[in-house]
Amino acid sequence: MKRSFTLVDVLLLLAFLSGASWAVKGSSQCRQTKSGMIRPHSVSITEFGAVGDGVTLNTKAFQNAIFYLNSFADKGGAKLFVPAGRWLTGSFDLISHLTLWLDKNAVILGSTVSPLLLLKGHLLMDDWPVVDPLPSYGRGRELPGGRHRSLIYGRNLTDIIITGDNGTIDGQGRIWWEWFQSGTLDYTRPHLVELMNSSGVVISNLTFLNSPFWTIPPCILQLRLFLWMNSHVRVQNVTILAPLDSPNTDGIDPDSSDDVCIEDCYISTGDDLIAIKSGWDEYGISYGCPSTRIIIRGLIGETQLGSGIAIGSEMSGGISEVHAENLQFFNSVTAIRIKTSPGRGGYVRNIYISNVTLDHVDIAIRFTGQYGEHPDEFFDPNALPIIERITIKDVTGKNIKVAGLLEGIEGDNFRNICLSNITLNVISESPWNCSYIEGYSNLVTPETCDSLKESIFPKHYLDCYHLSRHLWSSSNQNKGARLWSW
Ligand SMILES: *[C@@H]1O[C@H](CO)[C@@H](O)[C@H](O)[C@H]1NC(C)=O
Ligand SMILES: *[C@@H]1O[C@H](CO)[C@@H](O)[C@H](O)[C@H]1NC(C)=O
Ligand SMILES: *[C@@H]1O[C@H](CO)[C@@H](O)[C@H](O)[C@H]1NC(C)=O
Ligand SMILES: *[C@@H]1O[C@H](CO)[C@@H](O)[C@H](O)[C@H]1NC(C)=O
Ligand SMILES: *[C@@H]1O[C@H](CO)[C@@H](O)[C@H](O)[C@H]1NC(C)=O
Ligand SMILES: *[C@@H]1O[C@H](CO)[C@@H](O)[C@H](O)[C@H]1NC(C)=O
Ligand SMILES: *[C@@H]1O[C@H](CO)[C@@H](O)[C@H](O)[C@H]1NC(C)=O
Ligand SMILES: *[C@@H]1O[C@H](CO)[C@@H](O)[C@H](O)[C@H]1NC(C)=O
Repeated sequence: MKRSFTLVDVLLLLAFLSGASWAVKGSSQCRQTKSGMIRPHSVSITEFGAVGDGVTLNTKAFQNAIFYLNSFADKGGAKLFVPAGRWLTGSFDLISHLTLWLDKNAVILGSTVSPLLLLKGHLLMDDWPVVDPLPSYGRGRELPGGRHRSLIYGRNLTDIIITGDNGTIDGQGRIWWEWFQSGTLDYTRPHLVELMNSSGVVISNLTFLNSPFWTIPPCILQLRLFLWMNSHVRVQNVTILAPLDSPNTDGIDPDSSDDVCIEDCYISTGDDLIAIKSGWDEYGISYGCPSTRIIIRGLIGETQLGSGIAIGSEMSGGISEVHAENLQFFNSVTAIRIKTSPGRGGYVRNIYISNVTLDHVDIAIRFTGQYGEHPDEFFDPNALPIIERITIKDVTGKNIKVAGLLEGIEGDNFRNICLSNITLNVISESPWNCSYIEGYSNLVTPETCDSLKESIFPKHYLDCYHLSRHLWSSSNQNKGARLWSW
């Protein structure tokens, strides 16, 4: 039976096209970044006197090699080759148009020279220099003031490739944990790799470790690829490992970054596998730099203390247009998490998470509206975050304790939360617990909480982010409702 187009059909089509055009653009961006590009010039770190014995400190060799390669930046760029060996180094800076290539069995090891010695004017002063706090955080995340520069650091760059044949970057974080616990650190711990205000970044085919001794407890060098204020970033086929009981060892943190694509990664750490952020309370609000257009595809991992995908808690610059799909999380506390708090301001909207497989996860979906943790006492408690248009669909899970613990903020409900086609094998007798949450659902087992029970179809698909692909077919001969995909 033919029927004419209604206004709703047209709106639906427009919504679909606008959503889809971004998704298509996004996925081609995922593919297009050139990673195998040949650089016309190449040098080996050994040509700069580096010794790969795991003992010799090679900070100067890395710095000199990169200083030398800078002269090729306007001639197509250059490649710094790191052969098999154990290359101990302090923090070094990258430059634009550079490929850092770690060959098979090449390991870059973070220096374990105490930053305290450095502050006393020791010769090795340059190993872990202190840089300014991020303006969107106002201070170091752990301690007031500056923070130690990451092992591999880049700022204001373009066209950077960090890749190789499964080489390893190992932060040796354990020693930092000891310094931190004994209160000897004056500044926030460094990340493993930190890229700031850069574009055209590819990180692929590598392993990131923080401790060679698997059983050693917490480590501190945050095992983060920390990406601040970047655009056009692709992280592909990397393995990130840290002890499961190590605190704050997030895997990858895109922070105030846009056009980020993270594909086919295995991450096993103590904290969130991927955490999307955008600044902290009043500093993040005034800096106003969002994270947007983030694609995550093909992520496998476990985390004993964190979540598979986290948004926040620092989200004051806003976070939007996040598409995450084909995710597998096991042996984890939480799979999908949104963390925020009064004082954060900002927004989290237009989030789409789909095709998730879970096994042995305590809480499948968790929203926390009272996360707390403020940079100082000057935050504005009336700066309430806006959380809306979050779609989570096609989730299956076994050995789940709680399906959803969804806590919004009183007087600031999280809105248009849409759950579709979720089947969880849950142990708890009250699988869902929602407060200050509004939204819709379809095909959720066990049955979701009252505030989400209203059906998405036919009335509310436009309220749900990116669900326009599924149409309610009113012309269907069958009595029952039917969903179909384009
Ligand atoms: C990056 O740009 C900022 C702002 O222009 C500047 O303050 C900073 O010194 C630059 N940093 C580097 C490493 O070039
Ligand atoms: C980012 O880099 C551009 C040019 O490289 C510079 O103009 C700008 O000030 C930088 N911003 C920050 C926050 O570093
Ligand atoms: C992933 O990286 C490993 C080396 O770390 C390489 O052997 C493998 O071919 C890569 N896979 C893809 C799909 O790029
Ligand atoms: C890459 O190296 C890591 C650590 O050395 C190892 O665990 C992993 O199996 C390797 N992956 C591939 C594809 O060779
Ligand atoms: C990863 O390595 C594989 C195998 O060498 C190669 O085919 C692929 O292009 C590499 N991917 C990236 C993004 O570097
Ligand atoms: C769902 O994700 C799995 C990997 O977790 C993948 O093998 C499968 O093809 C995905 N399904 C769809 C429909 O994309
Ligand atoms: C529900 O999700 C499962 C995967 O979790 C998928 O195989 C199935 O096709 C989905 N059903 C509908 C109606 O979309
Ligand atoms: C729901 O969670 C709150 C804490 O967020 C707890 O106080 C309450 O007891 C829970 N309700 C049920 C029925 O589990």
